[in-house]
Amino acid sequence: MSRVSLTQYLVEKQREKNLIPAELRLLLEVVARACKRISFSVRKGELAGVLGDAGTGNVQGEQQKKLDVIANEVLLEANEWGGNLAAMASEEMDHSYPIPNRYPRGSFLLLFDPLDGSSNIDVNVSVGTIFSVLRMPEGVTDPADEHFLQPGSRQVAAGYAVYGPSTQLVLTVGDGVAEFTLDSDIGSWWLTGNNLTIPADTREYAINASNRRHWMAPVRRYVEELEAGSQGPRGKDFNMRWVASMVADIHRIITRGGIFMYPRDQREPDKPGKLRLMYEANPMGWLIEQAGGAATDGTRRILDIEPEKLHQRVAVFMGSKNEVERVTSYHREL
Ligand code: AHG
Ligand code: MN
Ligand code: MN
Repeated sequence: MSRVSLTQYLVEKQREKNLIPAELRLLLEVVARACKRISFSVRKGELAGVLGDAGTGNVQGEQQKKLDVIANEVLLEANEWGGNLAAMASEEMDHSYPIPNRYPRGSFLLLFDPLDGSSNIDVNVSVGTIFSVLRMPEGVTDPADEHFLQPGSRQVAAGYAVYGPSTQLVLTVGDGVAEFTLDSDIGSWWLTGNNLTIPADTREYAINASNRRHWMAPVRRYVEELEAGSQGPRGKDFNMRWVASMVADIHRIITRGGIFMYPRDQREPDKPGKLRLMYEANPMGWLIEQAGGAATDGTRRILDIEPEKLHQRVAVFMGSKNEVERVTSYHREL
């Protein structure tokens, strides 16, 4: 059986289905190439001196790891000259980055979380890269932060790379979800899963339970019922998993089902959760929906949220449809 490469997959989406323009295909290939480079750095680890703190902070008030900074640089350098982008925005940069004047500007906007799960880098646990592609609004010549503020439903491509025991790329252009595995000997991505589908029911959930005392009533109720297992109202036992890399947790859910939660916190009621809407929740939410799952912030569909700020945070409930609908309905009842 001959395998389908990432290029062939994208050409087919472009040619046969007329789903994506050539510029978007080329842009996605460059993003995939950047993820390949990040994967090589992650794998060299201590041997390449890439572990540990960078000694700097980002706009989120978080300490940056060396690999956060390296991955951000790799993505910027790989994508700035291709001619398909107008600007980029990143978790690691205060403001968006317009394509410099020395290169041609295209019509797409790229957002990314260069290294997701940074706390896992130094302990050799899976990390990843998340990205989202939007169109530049019509008639805009000078891209700025405000042009990125589009709801997730307007994404034209979204995906992530997971740097685990193998490196995989999971991608949607709005026609289902495909998974590619990197053959690092020859540096090529090969299609290893097509039309990934999340089962509507699950017995697995993911939440950082150390925040329990800060949860709101709907989340407490939902998790208590899961924990009560076969003796409780759910009548079945559930298992809990938390990698603390969203990419790795979502990859498990896309592969075999489950629900991922990062709720709003009572400590800071004005701070809606930890995760960021534009480059974490939106791309993951779209992938989950494209795989037949659901994604809400407890009350609204994630993809319908009108963003107000580039680094805006949002509560997240995503994964197996029936579980997401249940926890969302608990928010409505209270
Ligand atoms: P990042 O490393 O990009 O800042 O994202 C970390 C996120 C996400 O990957 C993960 O699900 C979550 O933070 C982990 O949070 P806890 O530290 O509460 O476990
Ligand atoms: Mn992240
Ligand atoms: Mn990150």
